[in-house]
Amino acid sequence: MTARHTLSNAVNLDSYWMPFTANRQFKAAPRLLASAEGMHYTSTDGRKILDGVAGLWCVNAGHGRKSIADAVQHQLVSLDYGTAFQMGHPLAFELAEKLADMSPGGASAGLDRIFFTNSGSESVDTALKIALAYHHATGHGERTRLVGRERGYHGANFGGMSVGGIGNNRRAFSAQLPQVSHMRHTHDLARNAFTRGQPEFGAELADDLDRLVTLHGAGTIAAVIVEPVAGSTGVLVPPKNYLQRLRQLCDRHGILLIFDEVITGFGRLGTPFAVDYFGVVPDIVTTAKGLTNGAIPMGAVFVSRKIHDAIVQGPDSAIELFHGYTYSGHPVACAAALATLDIYEQEDLLTRGRKLEGVWEEAIHSLRSMPHVIDLRTIGLAAGIELASRDGSPGARAYDVFVDCFEHGLLVRPAGDILALSPPLIAGQAHIEEMVSILSKALKRAK
Ligand SMILES: Cc1ncc(COP(=O)(O)O)c(C=O)c1O
Repeated sequence: MTARHTLSNAVNLDSYWMPFTANRQFKAAPRLLASAEGMHYTSTDGRKILDGVAGLWCVNAGHGRKSIADAVQHQLVSLDYGTAFQMGHPLAFELAEKLADMSPGGASAGLDRIFFTNSGSESVDTALKIALAYHHATGHGERTRLVGRERGYHGANFGGMSVGGIGNNRRAFSAQLPQVSHMRHTHDLARNAFTRGQPEFGAELADDLDRLVTLHGAGTIAAVIVEPVAGSTGVLVPPKNYLQRLRQLCDRHGILLIFDEVITGFGRLGTPFAVDYFGVVPDIVTTAKGLTNGAIPMGAVFVSRKIHDAIVQGPDSAIELFHGYTYSGHPVACAAALATLDIYEQEDLLTRGRKLEGVWEEAIHSLRSMPHVIDLRTIGLAAGIELASRDGSPGARAYDVFVDCFEHGLLVRPAGDILALSPPLIAGQAHIEEMVSILSKALKRAK
């Protein structure tokens, strides 16, 4: 390893303004990763760290996959870049076709028109804009209201932030998009604590959309966006029949339904997409993260043919949708995605979570008697471990457990006082047992 690839004590930490990080706290006691392979990172002080969160819900096939690296390297020296505006390259079309073939809900769902982005946030903003453009194109330009949900996370850009429902992500940025409303979230500890899979109670919370329809008028609402399983807010699994009911209400009122599958897409629930898990078909699906195994930034938005065809109209010479990014369908990202999808297919990773779900569920729910634990919830290969907050300092306990786990060789993700887990889909039973063992010791030590 060259000096450039290691971080010696001489490196100054001041210049890098870290995202979603307590910068001063971090820089006082940095946690630095040097390399990664399979299920593990190696820290700069030479310790092996088990990856309990697949990077950040993205490294679904595990770290250091050679075929992805080879595809990227090859692409960089054959076509490093070409503009996506009024020009194309074969890999983008190949990838779009491949995604269309495996699209959420299968062929009958018709979600087979693909728009490329570079991140989950861009996928969300793209989906919101496409929803507005659809209504504009079909003579319903007055449908401009966007509906999100409390505790939702849809990325950090203005569109996603506005429909998002996590207070801390919004507070300092008062200039939200206008005409945005939020439904209530579905988290209900009193009725649903310690549920395995989908909770029994809460389908009626979908009727919150009717409240907004009554208030604003159905004819003003363009789209509803939800995460089928809310991830960043601490793994909130939808109550049984909630998503079905939301779909019915959207149909009744002519409102488009967008599923944000940035974390559930590409196998997290043990099905290729959450659409396949829940059997509910939205009009648009946003993805990113697992598309390239986290190796190269890329997102893809799956759009129904109905929406696509309504927008792709008019004179042949006219640009139909004035939207896109310099790096939409970037050749190197396409190469990484195609290599990633090959791995998923060859190793059956998009359905592996189904086979491991039982082992995962048992392991996580074995933490029930641990100190501070007030809820455990699991679905596919995701889990939320909710801790009682320490008086006067919400989030502090989960943060301490996160640091303790890191020091003892496990990476988890704190969100408030919830620890989220989402291991790479290549995880074995021994990895899962090790995660739970490190976690239980950290919980016992936690104050
Ligand atoms: C559901 C969801 N949407 C959007 C995003 C934003 O993705 P990105 O950070 O790639 O912009 C995330 C990120 O965690 C997410 O979980």
